[in-house]
Amino acid sequence: MRLLATKPRPFLKWAGGKTRLLEQLARHLPREMKQGRIRRYIEPFVGGGAMLFYMASVYQVPELVICDVNDELTLCYRTLRDDVEAVIDCLDELHRRYHAAAPAEREQMFYAIREQFNATRPQIDFRHFSPVWIERTAQIIFLNHTCFNGLFRLNSRGDFNVPFGKYKNPGIYDTENLHAVSHVLQDTTIISGHFTVSEQFVTPDSFVYFDPPYRPISKTSSFTSYSKLDFNDEDQRQLAHFFRRLHTTGAKLMLSNSDPKNTNPEDDFFEVLYDGFHIHRVLAARAINARGDKRGEISELVITNY
Ligand SMILES: C[S@@+](CC[C@H](N)C(=O)[O-])C[C@H]1O[C@@H](n2cnc3c(N)ncnc32)[C@H](O)[C@@H]1O
Repeated sequence: MRLLATKPRPFLKWAGGKTRLLEQLARHLPREMKQGRIRRYIEPFVGGGAMLFYMASVYQVPELVICDVNDELTLCYRTLRDDVEAVIDCLDELHRRYHAAAPAEREQMFYAIREQFNATRPQIDFRHFSPVWIERTAQIIFLNHTCFNGLFRLNSRGDFNVPFGKYKNPGIYDTENLHAVSHVLQDTTIISGHFTVSEQFVTPDSFVYFDPPYRPISKTSSFTSYSKLDFNDEDQRQLAHFFRRLHTTGAKLMLSNSDPKNTNPEDDFFEVLYDGFHIHRVLAARAINARGDKRGEISELVITNY
């Protein structure tokens, strides 16, 4: 049973994070969730976990299962679950050094940590916990909050290559939040891998929320490279087949994606893939293209099997 004094929220800034869309998504949750009839919450593309933490603080779902293909991210979740105090000690030290340093030294510190982070990647065993995970988790949280735009982008070699952010006074972590996050993760099964791996956990009383990398709605709009694996139209099709297969289990399913009709009213890519399911449209404040000159509200899709 989770009794939380502080409501947990994402500890990383994550591209495609759902924090601002939570209220709208909440309106589309299955009735069974509010009735307490969902026994397991599964999130195969967890990213920063905005929905996971929302669900954990609002509903008492006994079991949580999260998955992501980004092994650095799942390493963070597992370390925060198993040794949050040690991560906080490491972060305290990074925070102290960073805030004691002059601006030029801060930049040097950022690049030194980025280099160390990349250089140690080949030696990391991502499957079995070891003490090096603690420092790595602290480094990821530090780099994520001090880099440009708070991205976590890996290049084709798997290196973190985002430049320094030049923020005056970045908040790097919040101790109370990390405790609340760790508390939620005690009840959570954390899987590193392709979304299909989550299938073995799906039961008739599960609720599965899919938030895959969005299909780009214009050539310049989207950031879909969270890891060295891109998510293209073929992956979207595979995901739709997976959704259809899980539907037969009786589980409740919800999926978010971009709405191609924002830029091309003729584009019925998702209507075809999710034919027979319910396609809802919600409004999100997002930029349509990378230059941000078409900011405003655009619609996004919420697809459900109930
Ligand atoms: C839109 S983000 C999820 C954002 C999340 N809902 C949040 O609030 O931060 C998509 C996530 O899917 C992950 N991903 C990409 N391809 C994947 C795959 N084939 N299987 C599982 N996860 C994948 C990415 O690493 C990324 O974290």
